[in-house]
Amino acid sequence: MKSSIILSFLSFSLSLPLASGFPSFVPNSNQSARLPAILPDGLPTLLPGRRLINVTGAHAFIPPSGDDQRGPCPGLNALANHGFIPHNGVMTPSDLMAVTKVLGFGSDFVAIATALGFEYGSADAMHMSIGGPTLDGLGPGLDFTHNTFEADSSPTRDDYYVGNNNYDAQEAYFHALLNRPGLDIISHRVERFNHSIATNPWFYHGPIPLVISTLVHCFILGMMADFSASTPSSPDGILTKDILMSFFGFTSTSSSASDTLHYTPGHERIPDPWYRRPTDYTHANAASCIDAIGRADPRALLPGGNMGAVNGYEPMNMSELTGGVYTDETVLQGNNLRCFVFQVLQLVMRAQAAGAAAFLAGSSLSIADSMEEWMCPKLEGLNERMYERYPGYKKRD
Ligand code: HEM
Ligand SMILES: *[C@@H]1O[C@H](CO)[C@@H](O)[C@H](O)[C@H]1NC(C)=O
Ligand SMILES: *[C@@H]1O[C@H](CO)[C@@H](O)[C@H](O)[C@H]1NC(C)=O
Ligand SMILES: *[C@@H]1O[C@H](CO)[C@@H](O)[C@H](O)[C@H]1NC(C)=O
Ligand SMILES: *[C@@H]1O[C@H](CO)[C@@H](O)[C@H](O)[C@H]1NC(C)=O
Repeated sequence: MKSSIILSFLSFSLSLPLASGFPSFVPNSNQSARLPAILPDGLPTLLPGRRLINVTGAHAFIPPSGDDQRGPCPGLNALANHGFIPHNGVMTPSDLMAVTKVLGFGSDFVAIATALGFEYGSADAMHMSIGGPTLDGLGPGLDFTHNTFEADSSPTRDDYYVGNNNYDAQEAYFHALLNRPGLDIISHRVERFNHSIATNPWFYHGPIPLVISTLVHCFILGMMADFSASTPSSPDGILTKDILMSFFGFTSTSSSASDTLHYTPGHERIPDPWYRRPTDYTHANAASCIDAIGRADPRALLPGGNMGAVNGYEPMNMSELTGGVYTDETVLQGNNLRCFVFQVLQLVMRAQAAGAAAFLAGSSLSIADSMEEWMCPKLEGLNERMYERYPGYKKRD
């Protein structure tokens, strides 16, 4: 069974290094000459713990060519372009170490991404294309994991059944993000949700797609920001238009960085210099992003979908979906929105890779621990029959 293979890789490649904490990725050398001149006066130019990602030499940017695969994830595309994962875009589970080391992807998210990616994007659970199918038949790749992993209402990609394709960035959406005051990813998420309702008759926002499309918005904030100048007053690092353009494969000839955009698919690039977040990004870090989206528009965190026509959105009945654990009213109370989001991930891991869940239960990053801390009600499962009435769920190309 696929899951058991994934499992042994997870425990083999993740448990030891995570338990002891990753070593600093780049030895602490004197980087002051390369730091942008944005540090407040009086601060040492190189605080301990800063983690420069060295993208020169062995990890210089090399764009894809020939049969190299690139797909819907700008994080993985960038890692492949810098040779942190195989340049051909076909990963094995052990390559996941680099995703954590370079971008700070928490082990909880690694476990979930592994479970979904290698289960649905791969034929043998050992080789996963980060883009489309490969010539040697390794499986559909992440491009073709619609509703099992790849989701509608993504930050910059079109929905699966409408628009261009679901894996390239679309300039209009990226442009909209760049032009939001403060690069406000929260309102971007709500607007992308609104946009799918208004344009996609098959918009399906079931539990898994809603959690994925929401979280990848949070990932932009959490893992693309630069932490070279991180101070107690900017614990979230600094995200700029230039950083976003680089990570999403855009360039601009104008200094305002938003008027004359040029996009080259697959050319996602880690900025130089760029310092990753000091600690790994886990569900506990994502919780505040989830809360902010919930405050902006809770519908973006609740399951539902269009009923075959645009602007025909119908929410799922939370009481029927959760066997009464939540109702449409109680899910909005206390920590329940964030509880629901991470419970969906817990259930995914339980279903797809029992051992991944077991591994996490024993680590300090356990979602189960957070559930207790946040006083979440116990959710043992979801009534998946609720999904059937949505045409975008059942539709198979
Ligand atoms: C093993 C690790 C990972 C896997 C398997 C993975 C997979 C995916 C998949 C399938 C999507 C498409 C989801 C959708 O349709 O919205 C996606 C999107 C995305 N991923 Fe990843 N991902 C991984 C790690 C990361 C990391 C570390 C980052 C950090 C920057 C990241 C950032 C994003 C972003 C920002 C998007 C949304 C792209 C857009 O629509 O603009 N991912 N990823
Ligand atoms: C780092 O380099 C700068 C500029 O070359 C120098 O002034 C400083 O003393 C160096 N710091 C350390 C810790 O070596
Ligand atoms: C980056 O790595 C290259 C070798 O790949 C090395 O020559 C260079 O000194 C490193 N740069 C920094 C800033 O550590
Ligand atoms: C999203 O749609 C709702 C309902 O139509 C509206 O109230 C809200 O202002 C919209 N938000 C954004 C960011 O577009
Ligand atoms: C949701 O389902 C519950 C239980 O079947 C029912 O009492 C409630 O009226 C339903 N809510 C809506 C909005 O249909």
